[in-house]
Amino acid sequence: MKSLVIYYSKTGNTKLIAESIASEVNADLFEIQREKDIKSSGGFMLYFRGGFESMTKKNIRLEKTDIDFSKYDLIFLGTPVWAWRLNPVVRSFLKKVKIENKKVGLFACCAGSAEGVLTDMGDILKKNTILGVSEYVEPLKKNTEALVKESKKWAKEIHQKAGK
Ligand SMILES: Cc1cc2nc3c(=O)[nH]c(=O)nc-3n(C[C@H](O)[C@H](O)[C@H](O)COP(=O)(O)O)c2cc1C
Repeated sequence: MKSLVIYYSKTGNTKLIAESIASEVNADLFEIQREKDIKSSGGFMLYFRGGFESMTKKNIRLEKTDIDFSKYDLIFLGTPVWAWRLNPVVRSFLKKVKIENKKVGLFACCAGSAEGVLTDMGDILKKNTILGVSEYVEPLKKNTEALVKESKKWAKEIHQKAGK
């Protein structure tokens, strides 16, 4: 069974988890990239601009999105939470590509909670089978080792479920 981990990450947390998952289940990795990034890598400007984009569900122009989904049985998809919502880069990606009839695992990084975001992602991907969801609170800042371990355990479970 071939798996793909797709993610967007602005400040590295989702990237860390995506890479951990990919290494655990021997998956390919695809990083969603925007054509023009928000320049600031933190602080007020990032929160202000990113929060606005997220709240208005702005359509973001992306770099290449031509993934051959036919190669994959299992897709992991990861997003940071922005303004209590699915990150607008990931939302734009999901508008652009067609993911159907796949087994899917969803994960999110946040500072508080990702509950609504994971539900929203599941709704957008309703033509697929969602095998499970998981969330990680700022893994680069605290509990890094434990959260990486947790993500690997979760990935293994999803991978096993997908194989049944
Ligand atoms: C613009 C912006 C808005 C955010 N809004 C939320 C939020 O509503 N809830 C939350 O729990 N975390 C929020 N965060 C925190 C991020 O979800 C968290 O730092 C996450 O780990 C970032 O992932 P990344 O490093 O992969 O970009 C926000 C971060 C940014 C930059």
